[in-house]
Amino acid sequence: MNWPKLDSHKIKLKVFEALSANANYRSENILGLPGTYLDTEVFYDDAPFLKDAPFLSALIANPNHIGCHTLKDEHEEMFQGTQQLEKDLIRICAEEIFKAKPNEYDGYVASGGTEANLEALWIYRNYYKQELDARLDEIAIIYSEDTHYSIAKGADLLCLDTIAITVDGNNRELSLPDLEHKIDESYRNGKKYFIVVLNMATTMFGSVDPIEKVCNYLNLININYKLHIDAAYGGFIYPFTVPEHQFHFGNPNVSSISLDAHKLLQAPYGTGIFLIRKNFMKYVQTKKASYVKGTDYTLVGSRSGANAICVWMILHSHGSVGWTVKMHQLIDKTTVVCCALDELDIQYYRNPLLNIISIKSEYMPPELVKQFYLVPDTHDGEAKWHKMVIMPHVKQGVLDNFISKLSALKQS
Ligand SMILES: Cc1ncc(COP(=O)(O)O)c(C=O)c1O
Repeated sequence: MNWPKLDSHKIKLKVFEALSANANYRSENILGLPGTYLDTEVFYDDAPFLKDAPFLSALIANPNHIGCHTLKDEHEEMFQGTQQLEKDLIRICAEEIFKAKPNEYDGYVASGGTEANLEALWIYRNYYKQELDARLDEIAIIYSEDTHYSIAKGADLLCLDTIAITVDGNNRELSLPDLEHKIDESYRNGKKYFIVVLNMATTMFGSVDPIEKVCNYLNLININYKLHIDAAYGGFIYPFTVPEHQFHFGNPNVSSISLDAHKLLQAPYGTGIFLIRKNFMKYVQTKKASYVKGTDYTLVGSRSGANAICVWMILHSHGSVGWTVKMHQLIDKTTVVCCALDELDIQYYRNPLLNIISIKSEYMPPELVKQFYLVPDTHDGEAKWHKMVIMPHVKQGVLDNFISKLSALKQS
């Protein structure tokens, strides 16, 4: 991993250069688009600070990044300046972080992890239908029961059956015997094509699925599967804290990956990232989008170029080295909390390479849950776990306060 850190002056120059390569609603004769700059009554473009604020300037200029710009097809030319920044950020994610070879992947900035996950399911469903004449009832999505609900949402939208694999109640590990049993059972019930979703960190626990064991088994029994990695939570931390892992495009079993920049990367909401090996986007090409040059391949349609610019800016203001240091700092802070919980004999789950701690609810006094905004695994009935996520805004003083209150309540 080696993308450069740029100083803020250079970042500003690059973004303004990209914006000036776009068509300009203020100075050019743009008659054909139902788009324009932001309302000038509210967002006046002559505010003096804007010349030093590339992201806000991009928001006001309002470029539309509709479509998928890593494809060789034609693209809307009006916003090609900032589309290049999006291509560069997709390159960093695919090549630098997830080891894809140059020109062997596609991707785009989606609205979030949910859209990126749905895009993957949509592509594989259509792939099985178009290439293998699959009927819908022959396709199933396999995932662990700790998987994010966006996968169940996708199954509902795409009319696909699901197979949820149990996990161990304490260490949250996906059960291989249950996987074997359920695949066998579904095979006998007529399922022939599988979309497998593995987590590079689950939402509630930060647990990471055993990709090597799962793939070894799937390859051994020789079933037809496509593997999608949900790295919406872990994608911007796990590859930086774990030098050796199998959740990348260097692993031939992996077909696609979802990321969220609006979680750990601290980008604004609306910045999910979808990455997939080349030659798969065609299965969701919407040819009917004929007025869009290059047509459309995404779920979302029109989307803000400013979001892509923002992710590009954050990645370059840290560089790969700076980002790695920042993620290790979160891990260290999380470890300090875990040591204090150990001293208090409080039971919890934590993946040592991630920054989520899920505490068994019986150890969590309700007043602290409320005071520190801990999140339960369910709001429907009795929670078994409450999680804390050590995000960049979490100060050591707040953690110290939490631990000392927990200790006092435990002794009282
Ligand atoms: C593992 C995982 N996948 C998918 C999502 C959905 O992401 P979003 O809320 O950005 O749509 C989340 C959100 O928490 C997540 O943790």
